[in-house]
Amino acid sequence: MSAEPLIERNLIFVTGKGGVGKTTMAAGLAQMLADEGRTVLGCEIDAKGDLAAAFEVPASRFVPQKVSDGLSLMAMDTEASLREYLKLHLKIPIVGRIGPVAKAFDFLATAAPGVKEILTIGKVCWEVRERHYDTVVVDAPATGHIVSQLSAPQVINDLVKVGLIRSQTDWMSEILRDPAQAGLVIVTTPEEMPVSETLELVGAVTERTEVDIATIVVNRLLPERFTPRDEAVFDAISTEQGRAILNDEIGGGATPLLEAARLATVLRRSRTQHLDTLRAGLPDGLPLVLVPELFFRTDGLRATRQVAVHLAEELL
Ligand SMILES: Nc1ncnc2c1ncn2[C@@H]1O[C@H](COP(=O)(O)OP(=O)(O)OP(=O)(O)O)[C@@H](O)[C@H]1O
Ligand SMILES: [Mg+2]
Repeated sequence: MSAEPLIERNLIFVTGKGGVGKTTMAAGLAQMLADEGRTVLGCEIDAKGDLAAAFEVPASRFVPQKVSDGLSLMAMDTEASLREYLKLHLKIPIVGRIGPVAKAFDFLATAAPGVKEILTIGKVCWEVRERHYDTVVVDAPATGHIVSQLSAPQVINDLVKVGLIRSQTDWMSEILRDPAQAGLVIVTTPEEMPVSETLELVGAVTERTEVDIATIVVNRLLPERFTPRDEAVFDAISTEQGRAILNDEIGGGATPLLEAARLATVLRRSRTQHLDTLRAGLPDGLPLVLVPELFFRTDGLRATRQVAVHLAEELL
């Protein structure tokens, strides 16, 4: 890990366990950077359209579409990436899905490990190398797949020692291993499985890739609604007698209310414990950014803007 500030980097991959809030954070980060006056390309890898939905725009395509001042979005398409590569580097223009090339691509992509990964990584690195944007934010695959994607240039480098392919993967590796340019953000929630997956991923990324882990984002933190003193009060009024008196006063409904208060306390306490486990297991000096649970809007542009504000508080 490096002391390089996240916002200065040109290529940010956002990963984490399924469902922890990768897309939400990638969108919030892209919005925050655009608010800071940077030109940003948000890139969605798995074509679910979630990143576009976070900005309430139609599903992205391979060709970046501008969604607001300073912010464009694209969706990765490895075949389109190959076509662009052939056109740019070998000056072979390929229009549409021309039979032999498409077939060769399908064959290669299924037969050779790393082909899809290199086309994905190659495309985002290319955008960085050409300085088309100040920052490329990648809504990357979940923990299971990210390591093979980030290590694709290295893996291919180990196989191919010289020639055209080698000269291509060399410059990608250079970008990926430079913490001033590239960084990984791992999103987690303060829960048991996401925390243990995060700790495993930190180990795997450090061991098997050259990409710097920039920040861990702990998403969905619960606010401290009640103090220990409040809890003592809840305990006192949760007795049968206490509930009876309350129900008399408020005309019923005391039990679900008291249970909700207890649940809020228990949940928060367990999340605090998981957060402590995470802190204890991470390498010293790796920054943690905390993002609270959103209670009102959890999707769409308003949620994205809200996340951007929380991230700005912690990162700027
Ligand atoms: N801080 C938050 N507060 C409340 N809800 C949240 C928060 N962050 C994310 N969510 C909600 O959690 C769900 C999953 O979030 P998101 O789609 O960003 O996760 P993901 O990691 O990208 O998921 P996937 O692995 O499916 O791509 C969404 O419904 C989102 O609105
Ligand atoms: Mg997602």
